[in-house]
Formats: sequence, structure tokens, C-alpha cells
Amino acid sequence: MFGGKTYILRGSVSIALVILILLMITLLVSEENPLRTSLFEVKRQFSASSSSVCNFAKGKWVEDRNRPLYSGFECNQWLSTMWSCRIMGRPDFSFERYRWQPHGCNMPQFDRFSFLSRMQNKTIAFIGDSLGRQQFQSLMCMATGGKESPEVQNVGWEYGLVKPKGALRPDGWAYRFPTTNTTILYYWSASLSDLVPMNNTDQPSVTAMHLDRPPAFMINYLHRFDVLVLNTGHHWNRGKIEGNHWVMHVNGTRVVEDEYLKDIKNAKDFTIHSVAKWLDAQLPLHPRLKAFFRTISPRHFKNGDWNTGGNCNNTVPLSRGSEISGDGGSVDTTVESAVNGTRIKILDITALSELRDEAHISGSKLRPRKPKKESNVSLTATPTVNDCLHWCLPGIPDTWNELFIAQI
Ligand SMILES: *[C@@H]1O[C@H](CO)[C@@H](O)[C@H](O)[C@H]1NC(C)=O
Ligand SMILES: *[C@@H]1O[C@H](CO)[C@@H](O)[C@H](O)[C@H]1NC(C)=O
Ligand SMILES: *[C@@H]1O[C@H](CO)[C@@H](O)[C@H](O)[C@H]1NC(C)=O
Ligand SMILES: *[C@@H]1O[C@H](CO)[C@@H](O)[C@H](O)[C@H]1NC(C)=O
Ligand SMILES: *[C@@H]1O[C@H](CO)[C@@H](O)[C@H](O)[C@H]1NC(C)=O
Ligand SMILES: *[C@@H]1O[C@H](CO)[C@@H](O)[C@H](O)[C@H]1NC(C)=O
Ligand SMILES: *[C@@H]1O[C@H](CO)[C@@H](O)[C@H](O)[C@H]1NC(C)=O
Repeated sequence: MFGGKTYILRGSVSIALVILILLMITLLVSEENPLRTSLFEVKRQFSASSSSVCNFAKGKWVEDRNRPLYSGFECNQWLSTMWSCRIMGRPDFSFERYRWQPHGCNMPQFDRFSFLSRMQNKTIAFIGDSLGRQQFQSLMCMATGGKESPEVQNVGWEYGLVKPKGALRPDGWAYRFPTTNTTILYYWSASLSDLVPMNNTDQPSVTAMHLDRPPAFMINYLHRFDVLVLNTGHHWNRGKIEGNHWVMHVNGTRVVEDEYLKDIKNAKDFTIHSVAKWLDAQLPLHPRLKAFFRTISPRHFKNGDWNTGGNCNNTVPLSRGSEISGDGGSVDTTVESAVNGTRIKILDITALSELRDEAHISGSKLRPRKPKKESNVSLTATPTVNDCLHWCLPGIPDTWNELFIAQI
């Protein structure tokens, strides 16, 4: 009995193999068959992502006359004015004309139509700080080609992303491309920890910051995401934490006299490891979800940070070199170790962005969009924005998106 079953099984396996081989030959022979290219693409991508040779973080910046992917003037539906260096009056734009070429990885040319069709019925979520918001705005511009897109629907309400009364802005945004039913959203969480207002206090603005709990938004909506990109980093300093009245909590209680967590760098490490551990445990319950943790975006203040100042006024691309090689790990060892051994992928953009000090906002000069005739404000008289943290858009966050799209 058993032998007979095996024989029949073997028979059907061979028939299936023959059919498969015939199918492959048909595909190979017909040059025009679009399946042919996609088959090769899939195969290449598979071997690229599974091969240890390919590390998207290693490679070089190459000049590309087809860049940028959208216009900083035209994409004003999605770009914050302060991040659109064309509108802000930056005079030099050579920084826009580069793309990242990883060594040994398949890096397909970005095409917004094929991107959207690949993302049919899918939701891409960014959760993180303002650098995550930059990446979100960049992806909106890339997906629309920077063209006015009245058909794109604002679906923020579906995720509770509505502006509360008296607030400056909502906690995030969600937009849907109706032709492919693709949703792209961003939720503002600077620390990737759960923030809960503390009520038993005289100061209403004091907030419990639960280092061992992911933001409630992430817990509530994770089941609706197909792709998630996390980031944090630049709010982990005494000034920001005290300025926001954040009080650290672990295990549901206030952290007092904890030698380890007293050091803010350790508190950041602890939180990044907590959120990665939580997310990794969730992934088997959400098999279609692909999760990425983006490494820290480097800043280029001459003396370290905003407060001590020092500008990043270089305008010559690649003055710091154009290539990242070697087989070392990420510069961001915190994110690297947090995702190590998990199903979360690292989106390692630190070293390649480090080379691009000329692509920050700094140096841009505020130019009123409609200068008043009677005003004596001239271009040179307006103060220089000294932001060596955020990037001009179009710019470096576009590359982060290309790298993550290549790895979805
Ligand atoms: C859009 O995608 C969602 C999630 O994948 C799905 O539930 C919904 O039915 C889709 N809607 C349309 C109109 O295709
Ligand atoms: C998208 O969702 C719609 C509605 O549920 C479905 O008819 C369609 O087949 C889905 N497309 C893909 C590519 O999943
Ligand atoms: C504070 O109040 C809010 C809303 O009333 C509630 O959801 C929250 O759990 C309270 N927080 C604490 C720490 O008691
Ligand atoms: C939280 O609880 C765990 C397990 O009980 C314990 O090991 C840890 O020290 C606690 N952490 C803090 C900061 O209280
Ligand atoms: C760039 O900034 C430095 C001070 O940090 C200044 O000395 C230098 O003149 C500036 N260069 C240009 C081209 O503005
Ligand atoms: C990743 O984890 C493995 C096993 O625990 C360890 O040997 C390796 O050093 C870790 N790598 C990094 C980059 O943290
Ligand atoms: C602009 O400058 C002119 C000459 O420098 C001066 O007479 C005039 O009052 C200024 N106008 C304003 C609005 O400051």
C-alpha cells in the first residue's frame, strides 16, 4: 500500500516538474513576455537578500542626472515648506543629483507605478520622530511623482489621526491612493515609548513615559500594517526629556534611583531593545507584516548639537568621500543589537547619510513666498536656518525609501 502511494506521489512530482520545466522554457524563449523579466527580478532579489554578499549599507554615491525623483517646488502638497529647500531659497542643488548604489545588491530604479502596484491593498506605516516624518513626506512625493494628486484620500480619521481642539497638528497623517488601495501613514512618536498623561499631579503637562511599552497607537493598529518602519534617537537628551515633562516609568512605576537608566543613553538603549523585542514577538501573529528598524540619522552640527551650534555650511557633495566599504556592522550598534536575532530588518542608513553633510537644511535662507513691496526684507537680510539635523527634500530620505523598498 505504502509503496503504491509513494509511486503515485513520485509520478505526480515528476509530472509537475516536467510542467514546470516546460513553463520555464516558454518563459525564457518569449522575450516579450513580461513574466520573463519579473521572474528574473524575483530570482535576483531573492538571491540578493538571502546572500551574505549583499549589504545595502555598503556601496557608493553615484551621480545620476535623472535625479531628483520629484520636484521640491511641485511637491508642496506633501512637503513641509521648511524642508523644501527650493522654496526656502537654497541656491545650490547639486546635492539632489546622486543615488546610492549598494555593492552587490540588486537596486531597481524607483518607479512609482510599479511601487504602488506592488503595494496594492497594503498599508505602509512610519512611526518615529521628525526624521521619520521626513521619510514619510519623501515617500508621498515619490509615490505621487511630486504631482498635484487630488485623488489621494486623507484617511487619518480611520487611525484616529485627527487634530485635537487647540492642537497645532494631529499626531500623524494617513493617505490612501485609490487606484491601488495603498495607504501610507505616519505617527509621531519621538521616543517609541508609551506616553500617558499623569493625572495625580498639579502640572497637567507631566507625562509618564513607559520605556517598556510601545506607543499605544502601535499596539492598536499593528494588525492593519503590512510594512512598518520605526525610528527614534534625537529626543533622547536631558533637554528634550525635561522640556517635554516626560517622567520615565518601567514596570508601571516611576523610575527612581536606577543607576543604569539614569544615563539617558542607557534609557534609549533599553527602550529600543524593549520595542524591538515586543514587535518581534508580535510578528508570528501578523505573518504579512514586514518590519524595519531604521538606524539613526546622523547630524552634522560642527560642535555637536543645536545648542552649542556650529553650522554645516559645506555645499560641495561628497567632500567626506563617496563610498562605504568593508564588512563591518552598522555605526548604530544600538539598533543593530536590538534587531539581531529577530525577524525585524535593519534599515541601515547611518554611514551612507554621514557622507552627505551638504544635504541638510542649513544654509537655506528663508524667502517669503510673496515678498511685500514695502518690506525691505531681502534674501541676504533674512536669518540663516541653522538646521544640521533635518534634510532638504528631495534629498537623503528619498534614498532611505529606495533602500527599504528594495528590501520589502
Ligand atoms: C483595500 O485593502 C484593504 C486591506 O488590505 C482591504 O481590506 C479592502 O477590502 C481593500 N479595498 C478595496 C476597495 O479594494
Ligand atoms: C485587493 O483587494 C480587493 C478587494 O478585497 C481584491 O478584489 C483584490 O484581488 C486585491 N488585490 C490584491 C493584489 O491583493
Ligand atoms: C489619566 O487620565 C486618562 C484619561 O482620563 C486615563 O486614560 C489615564 O489612564 C490616566 N493616567 C493615569 C496615570 O492615571
Ligand atoms: C522590572 O521588572 C523586572 C522583572 O520583575 C525586573 O527584573 C526589573 O529590574 C524591573 N525594572 C525596574 C527598572 O524596576
Ligand atoms: C562656514 O561656517 C564657518 C563657521 O562655522 C565660517 O567660518 C565660514 O566662513 C562659512 N563658510 C561659508 C562659505 O559660508
Ligand atoms: C548577534 O547575536 C549573536 C548571537 O547572540 C552574537 O554572536 C553576535 O555578536 C551579535 N551581533 C551583533 C552585531 O550584535
Ligand atoms: C526701507 O528702506 C528705505 C531706504 O533704505 C527706508 O526709507 C524705508 O523706510 C524702509 N521701509 C521699511 C518698511 O522699513
